[in-house]
Amino acid sequence: MRILGIESSCDETGVALVDASGSATPRLLGHALHSQIEMHQAYGGVVPELASRDHIRRVLPLTDAVLAQAGLPLRAVDAIAYTRGPGLAGALLVGSGVACALGFALGKPVIGVHHLEGHLLSPFLSADPPEFPFVALLVSGGHSQLMRVDGVGRYELLGETIDDAAGEAFDKSAKLLGLPYPGGPALSRLAQQGDAQAYKFPRPLLHSGDLDFSFAGLKTAVLTQVKRLAHAHPDGPATLHLADPLSAQQKADVAASVQAAIVEVLVKKAFMAIRRTGLRRLVVAGGVGANALLREQLGAACAQAGVRVHYPELHLCTDNGAMIALAGGMRAQAGLAAVDAAEAGGYPFDVKPRWPLADLRLPSALTG
Ligand code: KG4
Ligand code: ZN
Repeated sequence: MRILGIESSCDETGVALVDASGSATPRLLGHALHSQIEMHQAYGGVVPELASRDHIRRVLPLTDAVLAQAGLPLRAVDAIAYTRGPGLAGALLVGSGVACALGFALGKPVIGVHHLEGHLLSPFLSADPPEFPFVALLVSGGHSQLMRVDGVGRYELLGETIDDAAGEAFDKSAKLLGLPYPGGPALSRLAQQGDAQAYKFPRPLLHSGDLDFSFAGLKTAVLTQVKRLAHAHPDGPATLHLADPLSAQQKADVAASVQAAIVEVLVKKAFMAIRRTGLRRLVVAGGVGANALLREQLGAACAQAGVRVHYPELHLCTDNGAMIALAGGMRAQAGLAAVDAAEAGGYPFDVKPRWPLADLRLPSALTG
């Protein structure tokens, strides 16, 4: 059973092929990615229309490249998985349209995959794959969630952000410091030269007693601090060059301090989830999972508590086709893909730009 996976929810076009034969963890046969970061950088963020047009240009050449890597013809593909949502509607429609067209032409089924399920399962492609059940800390550009994962399709939301995602907090703070999009990696690089104790930023909802996050206030605190250092008027606007008067050291100190605040909240809440569920396994996924400080602090805390922590391979932390092919493969192995396909009927060519992972319930046929 070979599954082709297509990811096009935002600013990366990803295509991959996995072998999901039998019940073994799917194996990656080929994987290709085109990042649009450079194209969007001029605008300081993703321009949805440009993203869709670029996905159209990239998806078939990437598919050819993946098949060439795997040494297989297109007809060797048994099913096509694509990101059905959440994400940018136009961008999602490209992946969905191509998947349905390929599926129809080959007479093979399509599997509409939830993007976050892809992130969640992505550590199964790593050299140290997890076992169910586990707690998942899902931290991407648009989502910050803690989930209890008991198996493929068995996800229970434990807590989530009530406003900005952790990735957004990184990106917005980076923008205030004049760093290029996407801000997370740039901010964490700058933070290496900074003093994390220099400024005391809030740790939102740290003591709220629940597993929810809130990062919107952090961006305001960073804005206030940058204005203070730049001697700008406290009520003035957040302009593009606001941080220009800051010294390189001041910028690095702000970066290190805000990173420390985000990471502390993520680590403490992840551990609260571990304590509440009694589980001894943690999976960290999504773009922010690539953050070195987060990995260092979670690693230390997990070692001390005797908790196993699993990550996707570093290059599979951010968006990619491999995680979509993998999720499609694991859903097929669990018997879920067939049920999904029967529900959707043929080649649905539809997308779900807003799609809470909690809505991804097990079909009644399988819950018994
Ligand atoms: O999962 P992802 O690729 O896309 C979404 O599904 O949203 O996550 C992208 C997010 C961006 O906010 C980016 O700034 C952040 O992940 N990110 C990082 C790092 N690498 C990517 N944040 C902090 N440190 C990093 N090293
Ligand atoms: Zn993502």
